[in-house]
Amino acid sequence: MDNTELSGFSKWTKEEKIDWVIQQFCSDPKLARSVLKDFNYPAEQQEILNGFSENTLSNFPLPYGIAPHFLINGKSYAIPMVIEESSVVAAASAAAKFWKTRGGFSAHVLSMTKEGQVHFRWTGSASALHEALPEFEEKLRADTAELTKNMRRRGGGIDRLELISLPEVGSHIYQLRFHLETCDSMGANFINSILERAAELFPSFIEDRSSSGEMEIIMAILSNYTPACIVRAEISCPVSDLGVFPGDMSANEFAQRFKRAVDIARHDVYRATTHNKGIFNGIDSVVLATGNDFRAVESAGHAYAAKSGQYRSLSQCEIENGIFRFWLELPLALGTVGGLTRLHPMASLSLDILQQPSARELMEITASMGLAQNFSALRSLVTVGIQKGHMKMHLYNILIHFKASREEKEQAFKHFEDQVVSFGSVRDYLEKIRRAK
Ligand code: MEV
Repeated sequence: MDNTELSGFSKWTKEEKIDWVIQQFCSDPKLARSVLKDFNYPAEQQEILNGFSENTLSNFPLPYGIAPHFLINGKSYAIPMVIEESSVVAAASAAAKFWKTRGGFSAHVLSMTKEGQVHFRWTGSASALHEALPEFEEKLRADTAELTKNMRRRGGGIDRLELISLPEVGSHIYQLRFHLETCDSMGANFINSILERAAELFPSFIEDRSSSGEMEIIMAILSNYTPACIVRAEISCPVSDLGVFPGDMSANEFAQRFKRAVDIARHDVYRATTHNKGIFNGIDSVVLATGNDFRAVESAGHAYAAKSGQYRSLSQCEIENGIFRFWLELPLALGTVGGLTRLHPMASLSLDILQQPSARELMEITASMGLAQNFSALRSLVTVGIQKGHMKMHLYNILIHFKASREEKEQAFKHFEDQVVSFGSVRDYLEKIRRAK
C-alpha cells in the first residue's frame, strides 16, 4: 500500500475506513466487522462521540462502576469510576466503608493556580525585557479583556506574569511564565488562547521599545505541571480504633507495618512507582468518569512525585501520640465545566451522581479516592497479600471466557477457595465438571 492510495483518508466515510482496515489488516474480517458494529452506538449517541476525535470506527467501552460509602468532609458520596482492572472498585468501596466509621476523609484544596509559558529567543538586553514587562502585562490584560471577561466575573483570569531566563538551554532563551486562575474549568483552552495572544503581541511590543535586539517566539503552551494546583486528603484515627486484622494482627502491629510500607515507597523508586500506580488506579478512574484529562493528571502527579529530585510516594504516614495518620498530596487540574465534562453524557451523569461538585470539590473527592485506593492496597500487602482479592476477579474473568453457567461459576468459586487459579487450572476444572454431568 503506498500513501497515494490513502490520500484524503480523514475524509473517507466511516464505512470506507472500516472496509480498508479490515481488508488490509484483520485476520478474521467477519469477527472484526461484528465487533466494530457491536460497540458502535445508535446514531444520536455515536454522533456525540464521533465529534470528540478523528477517524472513529467504533467505541472502546470500559466498565463504569460505583464506589459507595465515601464520607468526605462530612458529606456522603458514591463515586463513579471508569476502570478495567479487577478489584479496584471493590478495594475503594472497602476502604471507604472502613473509614466511614472512623471519621471519613478530610480533604482540602491548598491552591488552584495554573501555569502557562511563552518561550522565546531575545538577542537584546535582559534589562529591556524586565523594564517592559509591567507595561506589557497591562497591555495584554486590556487586549484580552473580552476573552477573560467571564472568567474574571467568576473570580479567575490572569493572576501574574514573570520573566525567567533559561541560560541552561542556550544564551538569549527566556520564558514568560503566566500564573492563572481558571475557576471550575480545567482551563486548557482559556490558558492557551491567552498565551498565543501574548506570543502575537510580545515581539513587536519589545522591538518597538528596544532596538537592542530581535525576538523570535519559540512556542506558547500551558504547563501540565501544576504544583500550585494542589489538594491534600487525609485519614486518621487512634491506632487502637484500627481494629484487628487478618491472622489476628493487632492494630498496633498493622499500623507499624503499614507505616513501614509507606516509608519504603518514600525512599525506593521501584516501590514508589508501584505505590503511586495504585494511587492512580483510583485517581484516573474518577478523572475518566468525569470526562477530565487523565494524561494531564498523570504527568503532573508523577512530576510532583519527583519534585525533591527523587521519585517518591505521593502519600505519607505518621504514627504519633497513638494517632495513625495517612495522607496524600498531589496536583490535580480538574474541571467541572468545559471540555468533555458536560458534552459526554456519561461524564455529565457522573457529575450529577457527585452532586454537581465545583472543581475544588472534585479535586477533594478525587484525592480521597486515590488515598482510599492506596490504603486498601497497602492494607492487603501488609496483611494477606494482594493476590487473594485479585484472584477472585481473575477467576471470574476466566469463567466468563469459558462461558461458564451460573451453577458452574458457583462450583468453581467454592473449589478455587484453596486452589491456585490459572487459565489452565480453571479450564481443566470446567472440563472435569462438564464431563461428569
Ligand atoms: C495494582 O494495580 C496496584 C498495586 O500494585 C498497588 C501497590 O502495590 O501499592 C496493588
